[in-house]
Amino acid sequence: MAAKPVDLTGQVALVTGAARGQGRSHCLALADAGADIAALDVCTDLDVPAYPLATRAELDDVVAEVTARGRRAVPLVADVRDPASVEAAVAAVEDAFGRLDVLVNNAAVVTSAPFWELSEQQWSAVVDTNLSGVWRTTKAASALLRRSPRGRVVHIGSTGGVRAVPEFAHYVAAKHGVVGLTRAMAIELAPDAVTVNAILPGAVDSPMLSGLADELGLTPDDVHKRWLHDQLLMEVISPDEVTGALMWLLSDPARHVTGHCLAVDGGALAR
Ligand SMILES: NC(=O)c1ccc[n+]([C@@H]2O[C@H](COP(=O)([O-])OP(=O)(O)OC[C@H]3O[C@@H](n4cnc5c(N)ncnc54)[C@H](O)[C@@H]3O)[C@@H](O)[C@H]2O)c1
Repeated sequence: MAAKPVDLTGQVALVTGAARGQGRSHCLALADAGADIAALDVCTDLDVPAYPLATRAELDDVVAEVTARGRRAVPLVADVRDPASVEAAVAAVEDAFGRLDVLVNNAAVVTSAPFWELSEQQWSAVVDTNLSGVWRTTKAASALLRRSPRGRVVHIGSTGGVRAVPEFAHYVAAKHGVVGLTRAMAIELAPDAVTVNAILPGAVDSPMLSGLADELGLTPDDVHKRWLHDQLLMEVISPDEVTGALMWLLSDPARHVTGHCLAVDGGALAR
């Protein structure tokens, strides 16, 4: 019997880092499944990372694509490092939709250097965005999620959340923290029937990967040698493969999956 497509009709999803890359792919699939979308992104370049972040035009484009699918969408320009900004964004979700059923914590940044060369600023930016931002956003959204009949939280982690890769100590530390948060939040939200899971991608074809490669002066061949060599399946993973894992975690057959970390990594964690 064929699996039923995920039906999120009448539900509302908040996606952070929504304007491009994996976040954009998640928003469009969620809309295809019937959800209305709150698309949050910082929409400005920051001191860290050195590569450009998403633009307001990219966020507006996601909103237009969702609207073209017949769903409602609100753009939320907010910084997951800033509690007031996150709380205002969640308040805007409640004003616009009156509910929240799905939270995808996807926003993150990366830099690369041996740990002894990381500046305080690089450490703080990566930990505050990639780890504290996940806690902060879920905290702000928790009251709405607990009111949902089927609340779902999915953190986008990394294989760096369960093993170390050289020259990413701050990113690895933050993503290990995301795995811990997944488990702790799953325990605390279970009484309200809210599931909390993480996806651990390998190397994904996105502006993060290309931005970091450009910053370090790496060719695509160098990227393969440095970041893909230990995947069993050596291709770069496309954003829609991560979206596929997300949609399964949101499906009814996954309703008893919680506190779980699902790798989409070309088998890298098998080594
Ligand atoms: N690309 C990869 O190879 C890879 C591998 C493993 C895990 N991941 C994870 O996948 C997720 C998505 O990354 P991506 O590859 O699509 O990268 P991306 O850079 O294309 O997307 C990240 C988005 O987050 C936004 N963002 C950054 N800082 C923000 C802040 N402070 N507040 C709000 N928004 C902010 C950016 O503007 C951008 O739109 C991240 O959690 C990343 O760590 C990526």
